Amino acid sequence: MRIDVLTIFPEYLAPLELSLIGKARRERLLDLHLHHLRDWTHDRHRTVDDTPLGGGAGMVMKPEPWAEAFAAVREQGRAQLGADAQPLIVFPNPAGAPFTQGTAREWSEREWIVFACGRYEGIDERVYEHLADEGYEVALASLGDYVLNGGEVAVLAITEAVVRLVPGVVGNAESLVEESHSDGLLEYPLYTRPARWTDPAGTVREAPEILLSGDHGRIAAWRREQSQLRTQQRRPDLLA
Ligand code: ADE
Repeated sequence: MRIDVLTIFPEYLAPLELSLIGKARRERLLDLHLHHLRDWTHDRHRTVDDTPLGGGAGMVMKPEPWAEAFAAVREQGRAQLGADAQPLIVFPNPAGAPFTQGTAREWSEREWIVFACGRYEGIDERVYEHLADEGYEVALASLGDYVLNGGEVAVLAITEAVVRLVPGVVGNAESLVEESHSDGLLEYPLYTRPARWTDPAGTVREAPEILLSGDHGRIAAWRREQSQLRTQQRRPDLLA
């Protein structure tokens, strides 16, 4: 999978060198390209923003660098993936569609995603119109109902959620099956050794006996029940 990120803070994406995602890059399962949006400006100050037309607080990202950047990145990607390759352009945005495990699953099957990180109050609306006219496939994705300072943190989260579902990235594919949200429920409680643990306050805490029974059918049923219970308690909206 190829991922491009357009941002004015490429350093923000440094954690993508680490852990599972870093390993996926080294193993060529993920081909990540970070781009500095200011590389597509032409003035001395490398300006990417200006005051909002009509007045108001804050700054708005100018359309010109974005349009140039998308054209350049599309050309670069097509030189690698083929002239017909179509990127999915993702704008992290609190006004976008909720990004869910379902979205992650769909996007993990994509050949190519381009993330566009907005900053300030947002990006000039004509950028979206231009992309639509040019035939780009565009998605706005929200991490949740709160506001971040820019798209970079959302790109970290979305990239991790998507790339870990790419075949081969997570060593044990079975561990993707039983985790929270994979089946619409929250994950059941987990225990490891020691089965009988005395906590620092002196309280003896036993793991549920059924987990020591060796009866895989009953263990699976118990876990299912726990998942349902936990979902009902913590996230009843998922059951509705
Ligand atoms: N950019 C700013 N806030 C965001 C959010 N909640 N989700 C995605 N991108 C954002």
